[in-house]
Amino acid sequence: MNISIIGAGYVGLVTAACLAKLGNEVILIDIDEEKLEAIHNSRISPIYEEGLDELLRQVHIGVSTDYRKILHSDIIFICVGTPSDKSGSIFLEHITEATKQIAEILKTREDYCVVAVKSTVAPGITEELVIPILETSGKKAGDDFGVCMCPEFLREGKAIYDFMNPARVIIGENDDKSGDMLSSLYQSFNTPILRTSLRTAEMIKLASNAFLATKISFMNEVGNICKQLGIDTYEVAKGMGFDDRIGNKFLNTGIGFGGSCLPKDLKMLIARAREIGYEPTILEGVLNLNDTQSLKLVELLKKHIPLKDAAIGLLGLAFKPGTDDVRDSRAIKIVEVLLQEGAVVKAYDPMAVKNFSKLFPEIEYVTKEEVLDSDAILIVTEWEEFNELDYGGKIVIDGRRIEKAREASIYEGVCW
Ligand code: UGA
Repeated sequence: MNISIIGAGYVGLVTAACLAKLGNEVILIDIDEEKLEAIHNSRISPIYEEGLDELLRQVHIGVSTDYRKILHSDIIFICVGTPSDKSGSIFLEHITEATKQIAEILKTREDYCVVAVKSTVAPGITEELVIPILETSGKKAGDDFGVCMCPEFLREGKAIYDFMNPARVIIGENDDKSGDMLSSLYQSFNTPILRTSLRTAEMIKLASNAFLATKISFMNEVGNICKQLGIDTYEVAKGMGFDDRIGNKFLNTGIGFGGSCLPKDLKMLIARAREIGYEPTILEGVLNLNDTQSLKLVELLKKHIPLKDAAIGLLGLAFKPGTDDVRDSRAIKIVEVLLQEGAVVKAYDPMAVKNFSKLFPEIEYVTKEEVLDSDAILIVTEWEEFNELDYGGKIVIDGRRIEKAREASIYEGVCW
């Protein structure tokens, strides 16, 4: 098929590379010319993602800043970013602008195509914002062109694997014809395809991430209770996980969830609920607990050492292992508080130093061995390599359960 992807961000780029690999003609549109050049000429991804550079070298993807290039596409995916503001509501500027540009092209098209939203949006946005803008073209959704909402479920670090091996494909459709066309693109995937309304698809995406976030905060709450009672939460999680109604995944306690998706999507769902006059108390609780969980690491540290002028070493800055992404990383709040308390912060991360140093140029970035020379050490991300360090004689407060760190002379886990 002939496919256009609007937005060369995380989802857009992975979707473009994978669909090209599957034999589709793909054109990637973005406003950032430099980014597109790197992708097209150097075949280098602007973001780190396992296997992505290699895939970019194997496939051909057309790139352009000019929307006229989408003129012959069968399917146009909108993959632009939907960052949230302080209240949690999403900024709709990018999606509005991209949709206006597509509407301009629709004006001149005689043939049928499907516009599919992949950006994560609050339930109702495709119907209430995207379709009305597309219809400014003078064409009618459902008659002259199709509209779908097709959320993506990609874990950072495993995005290519997740794209190629989806647990499910969700196709929210405006009408049968739109859904038939998009379904045919996913025909070769050996996975359930669920066809729903547009707003149901939008909700499935938000509810899935909100549920994962809830699992983590729930376990962190259990973990905080376990800590007081001298119980190991990891054993509790193991015991719970045998029940397949509960499952054994996403039960790792620690300093909570970060990244560009779980916190943002949870806030988006809370904001949407409030807009319609519903107070989502469980979701609020999930967010509130997560906001304070990472600071427990600093509270525990203060029991062992006064922070003023102390050299505190951080192991890990990325929001999780396997990525250089620091968006909403728990390390951010921790470093802020350490600096406020007058500590001297030294940090190590195998991948995320470059991104983190843009946020905190004032702290020292050192080797992992130099981190071990600090007065006390905080473990913030569970990189595998932290299981090979020599923690003997150290003070270690562990936010991510690194077994080897237990050999420290003073060791405390945040929930164990
Ligand atoms: C998340 C979802 O897992 C994907 O299914 C979804 O497609 C994606 O968001 C998205 O919306 O695009 P991701 O943000 O890559 O993926 O990260 P996760 O692997 O979910 O981890 C999120 C955070 O939860 C990390 O900070 C991690 O350390 C934390 N976490 C995870 C825990 O604290 N405990 C756990 O048991 C699992």
